[in-house]
Amino acid sequence: MINKKMEKMINDQMSFEIYSGYIYLAMGAYMDSLDLPGFANWMKVQWQEEFFHAQKMYAYLVERGGRPTFGAIPEPPKTWKSVKAAFEHALEHERIVTGRINDIMTAAIKENDHATRSFINWYVDEQVEEESNVETIIKRLNMIKESGEGMFMMDKELAARVFVPPVAQGA
Ligand code: FEO
Repeated sequence: MINKKMEKMINDQMSFEIYSGYIYLAMGAYMDSLDLPGFANWMKVQWQEEFFHAQKMYAYLVERGGRPTFGAIPEPPKTWKSVKAAFEHALEHERIVTGRINDIMTAAIKENDHATRSFINWYVDEQVEEESNVETIIKRLNMIKESGEGMFMMDKELAARVFVPPVAQGA
């Protein structure tokens, strides 16, 4: 059975993952408002990823005899200065998530909770990918300087992103 300290940390992070999804969904709505359906699609797939991250925590808590509980979700911004500014916000947010995941790992080690350590390791790896995906898009935006033609091409490319539940990939 999971101890109270680790149960609380995972519950807090579960709400934070839902908050992350909420931010990405708001970013998707912003991209849609700019008539960039491909960018909006990327954000909405990310929203699904974040909800998956939360669902995985829910299932883990239940499996360990814990109780999933939910905190208040703050209101996300409605707009950003530019597409690049939204992705920079996403990167900043992902770095906060990484810090929180690392804190859970550190606590699991201190608590001698090897099951949580093993569980949270999936998120440690996932965060490397989360940050890298956003960094790549920011680099591309810098390359094309958000020019009309470049944005059109990138929008077409990002339209191809689909949500694949990581379990199906064997994670
Ligand atoms: Fe669930 Fe984007 O971190």
